[in-house]
Amino acid sequence: MKIGIVGKGGVGKTTTSSLLARVLVSRGRRVLAVDTDSNPNLGLSLGLSPEATETLAPIPRSMVVGQRGDMTVAELMEDFSVATPEGVALMSALRVDEAGAGCTCGGHASVKSLLGQALQSETDDTIIDMEAGIEHLSRAGGTLANADVLILMMEPSRKAVITAQRTIGLAKELGIERWIGVGNKVDSGDARQAIEELCQHHDVPLDVVIPSTADIVAADRRGEPLDRSIAPDVWDAVEKLVDSLGLEAVSVS
Ligand SMILES: Nc1ncnc2c1ncn2[C@@H]1O[C@H](COP(=O)(O)OP(=O)(O)OP(=O)(O)O)[C@@H](O)[C@H]1O
Ligand SMILES: [Mg+2]
Repeated sequence: MKIGIVGKGGVGKTTTSSLLARVLVSRGRRVLAVDTDSNPNLGLSLGLSPEATETLAPIPRSMVVGQRGDMTVAELMEDFSVATPEGVALMSALRVDEAGAGCTCGGHASVKSLLGQALQSETDDTIIDMEAGIEHLSRAGGTLANADVLILMMEPSRKAVITAQRTIGLAKELGIERWIGVGNKVDSGDARQAIEELCQHHDVPLDVVIPSTADIVAADRRGEPLDRSIAPDVWDAVEKLVDSLGLEAVSVS
């Protein structure tokens, strides 16, 4: 399944992408995670060292993947992905290393091209951790146009829910047919009630709620992934998110 994780800045896209990838791998699936942030740090959340995260070569801009392109998916993964300690294959799509290096449209086009391919021979699930906002749904003809499902990340704020609402509008225009609403950083009964009311008012589904926890903040502070043995309520929520994807079984070799 091709899964795009989208939302307003800071709502928890990268954190949730990493947890989702780790839960999928723990279920025996082959997972490719693509960091599309021009300031990439998904690697740290997946357990790579700062050096490995920093030196991961980004996929070439404006690369075309597939039968008529210059690279096969297998070649691309061979050259531009790194395996994390738990076995997620990670790629970086849009690193900006130089000031004034120009726009990232070429990188977005590369991700769109990648998602347009039949990836099944190399991976069961591809997770795209998007940079903040909704521009990527219009840029380069819709970076996520070939996604099977969008995960609309929200925190309990009107701005975050309105961003999700706008995203649904753009997704419909692109022909994306599925989206799942996830409330993150829900730290109280009041926060839960607020996000439920906001989602209802703005006609955004709220399928999964991830609690707020200081453990995630502390792990981030250290630049490490969230330990499996702590924050069980967060892991339960991510398991529920995976269940809600309705994945077809894959044969585990
Ligand atoms: N469930 C949670 N509980 C507490 N803090 C959280 C939770 N999820 C994420 N955070 C914190 O929120 C901050 C933003 O998280 P993250 O980087 O995952 O968001 P993002 O949406 O990817 O941000 P950006 O838009 O910059 O890419 C981080 O400091 C992270 O530790
Ligand atoms: Mg992020």
